[in-house]
Order: sequence, then C-alpha cells, then structure tokens
Amino acid sequence: MSMNSFGHLFRVTTWGESHGPALGATVDGCPPNVSVTPEMLQVWLDKRRPGQNKNTTQRNEPDAVKILSGVFEGKSTGTPIQLMIENTDQRSRDYGEIAQTFRPGHADITYFQKYGNRDYRGGGRSSARETAARVAAGGVAREAIKALAPQIQIKGYMTQMGEMEIDRSRFDWDAIDTNDFWIPDAAAVQDWEDYLQGLRKAHDSVGAVIEVVAKGVPAGLGAPIYNKLDTDLAAAMMSINAVKAVEIGEGMNAARLKGSENADEIFMGNDGQPVYSSNHAGGILGGISTGQEVVVRFAVKPTSSILTPRASIRKDGTPAEVITKGRHDPCVGIRAVPVAEAMMACVILDHLLLHRGQIGENQGHIG
Ligand SMILES: Cc1cc2nc3c(=O)[nH]c(=O)nc-3n(C[C@H](O)[C@H](O)[C@H](O)COP(=O)(O)O)c2cc1C
Repeated sequence: MSMNSFGHLFRVTTWGESHGPALGATVDGCPPNVSVTPEMLQVWLDKRRPGQNKNTTQRNEPDAVKILSGVFEGKSTGTPIQLMIENTDQRSRDYGEIAQTFRPGHADITYFQKYGNRDYRGGGRSSARETAARVAAGGVAREAIKALAPQIQIKGYMTQMGEMEIDRSRFDWDAIDTNDFWIPDAAAVQDWEDYLQGLRKAHDSVGAVIEVVAKGVPAGLGAPIYNKLDTDLAAAMMSINAVKAVEIGEGMNAARLKGSENADEIFMGNDGQPVYSSNHAGGILGGISTGQEVVVRFAVKPTSSILTPRASIRKDGTPAEVITKGRHDPCVGIRAVPVAEAMMACVILDHLLLHRGQIGENQGHIG
C-alpha cells in the first residue's frame, strides 16, 4: 500500500527521514527531452534551505541534490528520475528527551498510536525535511512546464504571520524575492522581523498564511468531479506539514458574499479570448481552469516544537512536561513558500499532461 506518492501522469514518490542518511524523490512521467540539471533544481532547493537567516531553523543543510537516473546529457530520458539529497547536519542527541514523550501539537503521538514505533530523531518521516524532496521534484516540474507552456509563472508569498498582515494596496511583486519572509512589501520587513524575533525570545512560535499564484495557466486544465484542478491543488497543499486550511480564490470568505458580488462577469476580449471582471473563483470553475490566475491560499499552524513547557504524557502513559530543544523554525510559513510553489508546479504540470492526453489540440473555442 503506497501512501507516499501523488500525481496522475506526473507522479512523485518521496522517501527518507529527517535524520537518516538521505532523502529524495522518484519522479515518474516527466516527458522526455526536458532540460534537467542539478543546478536547475538547486535554485529552488536553495530557496527552501534551512539555516540561511535568523528567521528560520539553524540546522545547516547544503541540500545538494544528486540526479541518480532518468537524465542523460542534461535531458530527461522519459524514464524515472531519481533525486537524492544527503542529510549532513543531523543532531539526534537533541531528540533524546522526546524518545519517551510526545510533543504536544506534533505527530509523535499519532505515529506511535498507528505504527507502534517511531523514528523520533528530528521527527523522522513527519519532519518537514521531507519537503526538500518535493522542492526538487517541483524543480523538474518547472522545467517541463517551461518546455510545454512557457508563459506559466508560479510564485508564492506570505500574506500573514500571526498579527502581521500584508497591506494589499502596497503589493509589490518584485519585493517578494528580496526579503527573508517572501512578503510583497519591502517596507514591512523590519516589523515582521522584530515581531518574529520577539516571539523567538519568548520561546514561542507563530502561524502564517501563504498564497501561491500560477499566472498564464491556459483555460481548460482540470476535470470535473474527482480530479478537479482545485481538488488536486487542495490535496497537494494540505499534504504539506503543518497546513490546517486551504482556500481557492475567495475561499472561506465566499460565505460572506452575495451571488451578485461573487460571480465574475464575463466579456469578450479583443484577442478573441473571454475576459473576466474579477477573479473570485481563483481561476477555476467546475474544476477546470478559466485562463485567469490560479490562486491558492493556505494556513500553517504555529511550530509545535517550542522551548515553553507544555503538558504531555510519556509512552508508558505517565504525565510529563515537554520542552523541545533542537533547532526549529519559529514560523514554518517562511520555508513553506518554496514548498507551496513546488506543489503548484507538480499539479499544474500533471494537469497539462492530462489535458494533452485527453484533449490534445481539440479544445473548445468561443466565437
Ligand atoms: C517548511 C516547514 C518547516 C517546518 N519546521 C518545523 C520545525 O522546525 N519544528 C516543528 O516542530 N515543526 C516544523 N514543521 C511542522 C511539522 O513538520 C508538522 O507540524 C508535523 O509534521 C505534524 O504534522 P501536522 O502539523 O501537519 O499535523 C515544519 C513544517 C514546514 C512546512
């Protein structure tokens, strides 16, 4: 029974644990003759890499990716691509104390209840180290998208971190890549940093909201009912560690709106393509892309591994107080941004391939 794979035609299987020798992804279904080199994938891994600044975990991993198969002379061959990232900066002694106890808010208790054992070092398979493998796979997906639909651009950013929220009237697309928080407002960075450092000093952590947008997605991707584009996107984002809610377009806020406010009006554009007055739908209607921006948003919970003592129990059922030492992200939302982009890339590529398989050039045309 495989529970470690996602995707239909572009299928990704990840493997490995936080403190094992290595982790990685097997990427099956990548079209042949796509340019893929370790350097191309490394760009995205470097974006997610821990230990880069004081706002993320101080675990220092180079996250250097090796391509073991499926690529010859810099091009995908059409066979499975095996990606491997070695773990080099494990510090398992930090986890000695949680071998017998369960961290409140973490997966220790449920892994034990299910499997009867667990690799407690760094959280084992429940650690977000696993997301490095997704980011590497997402790098392959991005290169395949570039070959099939080069107009598509994928970008993620934080919109909220605890009490801090972006001011959308100041949204600056170009600012996103210039700061540690991936926020679209350079002037707000210092406030966000002060806020997070305050929480870190208080031995606490905080949640966040991440938005990820795919621009240039053609109309027609997705399918009705069980493999809606939004179904697959929601599953992909919800599969990221610490994610507790996913929205498409207006999301939960749609419950507040009237039909007259929410329905995006349709007009015929000069280039023969429909244009919409707004994008409450988040670029998806009936599970199928409209040609507008695909907009997905999700919330991550505050990091559960904190230095503030929390009540818990031991494996033998006796009460315990847990203080989690080790190197942890004070807000996991920061490093979740490149992970979200990778998941978006994998899902969009998967649906480009599905669309090509079922519809090819025979798409419906208006006018
Ligand atoms: C990029 C990223 C980094 C994370 N870093 C940490 C961390 O340093 N410490 C921690 O306790 N949880 C961290 N998490 C969250 C845990 O992996 C997650 O809470 C845990 O697996 C339990 O799963 P759940 O929160 O989805 O229920 C991180 C999550 C992400 C997405």
